Amino acid sequence: MSELAYQTDRQTASVVASLSRVGKRYGENTVLDQVDFTVQKGEVVALVGPSGTGKTTLLRLLAGLESATSGRAEVSANTSVVFQEPRLIGALRVWANVLLDDARKPDAKERARAALQDVGLEDKLSSWPVSLSGGQAQRVAVARALYRRPDLMLLDEPFSALDAFTRRSIQSLVLKLWDHYRFGLVIVTHDLDEALILADRIVILSKGRICHETRVDLPRERDVTSPEFNALKRDLLRQFSLSVS
Ligand SMILES: Nc1ncnc2c1ncn2[C@@H]1O[C@H](COP(=O)(O)OP(=O)(O)OP(=O)(O)O)[C@@H](O)[C@H]1O
Ligand SMILES: [Mg+2]
Repeated sequence: MSELAYQTDRQTASVVASLSRVGKRYGENTVLDQVDFTVQKGEVVALVGPSGTGKTTLLRLLAGLESATSGRAEVSANTSVVFQEPRLIGALRVWANVLLDDARKPDAKERARAALQDVGLEDKLSSWPVSLSGGQAQRVAVARALYRRPDLMLLDEPFSALDAFTRRSIQSLVLKLWDHYRFGLVIVTHDLDEALILADRIVILSKGRICHETRVDLPRERDVTSPEFNALKRDLLRQFSLSVS
């Protein structure tokens, strides 16, 4: 019998998400199978794996956007998500996109200004989303997520549509914000470099199961040219190939 408990405060103080033997089926299709997954506050976890293997489903489960078919899920009520595309509302200016329901509060613009300062976009406070570059729009999405001071931040391939230079600069920004606010962070990515630059722990999901975990005990900021970085990358690539075979 499944026992589901979303968005409770029952977890211990430092655990912000805990999935225990979680399964998810769509009809006859088993997408997640017996997944055990825990995230501590202040921990960065990268979730990698082949396409169609259940990464987005797992993230949507953590976000409370999907419910599990079996198992137990406990996730902090204070969780924010950033998707692959920024999902800004075209009819609202940038500041209102950051605040959403809080946009009617008297000091709304000042609150939004502080959040936009965090991502270096204070000057775009009154801009329309259509006037932003892809990287700027994604930074607004990050500001919107951060505004809620989440215990857990979920990012689903948030930078994959950006060029390599912009991606690297947003990765640094996310690390800076994480260092300041110390939320738990789960990032889905296809980019092993990105996983190794950001994460304390890398989890490989294959066919709906967690098949491998690696700790990344390298000091930040990480040097992508170092032998240690590349040794971890080689090992990860080997595990990744095993997971698809
Ligand atoms: N709402 C849904 N209804 C039915 N099947 C779904 C639904 N959402 C996802 N699936 C199926 O679940 C499986 C996993 O999908 P998911 O989006 O989680 O994969 P993913 O690992 O994020 O893939 P990608 O790397 O391509 O983004 C796929 O077979 C997909 O077709
Ligand atoms: Mg996906």
